[in-house]
Amino acid sequence: MAESVTAAAEDRFARYPSLQERVVLVTGGGSGIGASLVEHFAHQGAKVAFLDIAREASEALAAGLAGEVRHTPLFLPCDIREIAALQRAIGEAAERLGPVGVLVNNAARDDRHTWAEVTPEYWDEMMAVNLRHHFFAIQAVAPGMKALGGGSIINLSSISWLIPSTGLPAYVAAKAAIVGLTRTMAHELGDSNIRVNAVLPGGVLTERQQRLWRTPEYDRKILNSQCIHRDLLPEDVARLVLFLAADDSSAITNQTHVIDAGWI
Ligand SMILES: NC(=O)c1ccc[n+]([C@@H]2O[C@H](COP(=O)([O-])OP(=O)(O)OC[C@H]3O[C@@H](n4cnc5c(N)ncnc54)[C@H](O)[C@@H]3O)[C@@H](O)[C@H]2O)c1
Repeated sequence: MAESVTAAAEDRFARYPSLQERVVLVTGGGSGIGASLVEHFAHQGAKVAFLDIAREASEALAAGLAGEVRHTPLFLPCDIREIAALQRAIGEAAERLGPVGVLVNNAARDDRHTWAEVTPEYWDEMMAVNLRHHFFAIQAVAPGMKALGGGSIINLSSISWLIPSTGLPAYVAAKAAIVGLTRTMAHELGDSNIRVNAVLPGGVLTERQQRLWRTPEYDRKILNSQCIHRDLLPEDVARLVLFLAADDSSAITNQTHVIDAGWI
């Protein structure tokens, strides 16, 4: 299972001076990969705000980091399916911490569904939780990033649309669309020195994956499909996102970055 950012890990992995004091907004930061992102950015000295509907887990995450990091992450309860609420929360984050320099669009819900039973209402719900908020969060942070002279936006897609995956077509379609959104917004915002990249994880061992989908057979299938036969952990993804957020990657935009231990 994922480990928190220990002192040993801080010695072993990269530090990014450009992330110190930077305002970072993470959607779905209360658990899974998002929680690891919150933790990793906070340990870099960034001012982190995160949005989530899971109050208990999010409050526990912020409380656990209080005193351990320079800036305790700011948890803002928000259902990212409600665009007005999303816009209000992003506005509040900027008011309290300053203009957002890094946006990580991470929130999602990979519910399984049978293609023949999908209704228009269910399809819209899956787009609302997996795709629509990416665009509106970008729209909300872009003016502040322009005023800052630039920014970095990282959209969490998935390899699910590149491997033969079945049983969740609406989720897979949303994750593919995120790459298209990434590429057009990289062109829309490039003049303002705002970079937009997509990250495509493989099978990452999170609490939700373990609770709902991972079985010994599925674990074996994943490990056998990968070139490197070890579990992919939330912190593996977080360290890639740190790099894409930092000025070290200032010439990288409009790209998809696969992190899957060699599955595809
Ligand atoms: N875990 C994997 O194997 C995997 C693989 C490929 C891609 N991804 C992508 O990585 C990202 C993170 O995935 P994860 O596995 O950590 O997911 P997760 O389900 O563990 O965490 C998602 C977080 O988003 C929050 N969230 C869900 N609906 C919300 C809503 N309506 N409003 C606000 N917050 C909401 C949840 O409460 C949770 O904290 C997602 O975009 C996912 O598609 C994950």
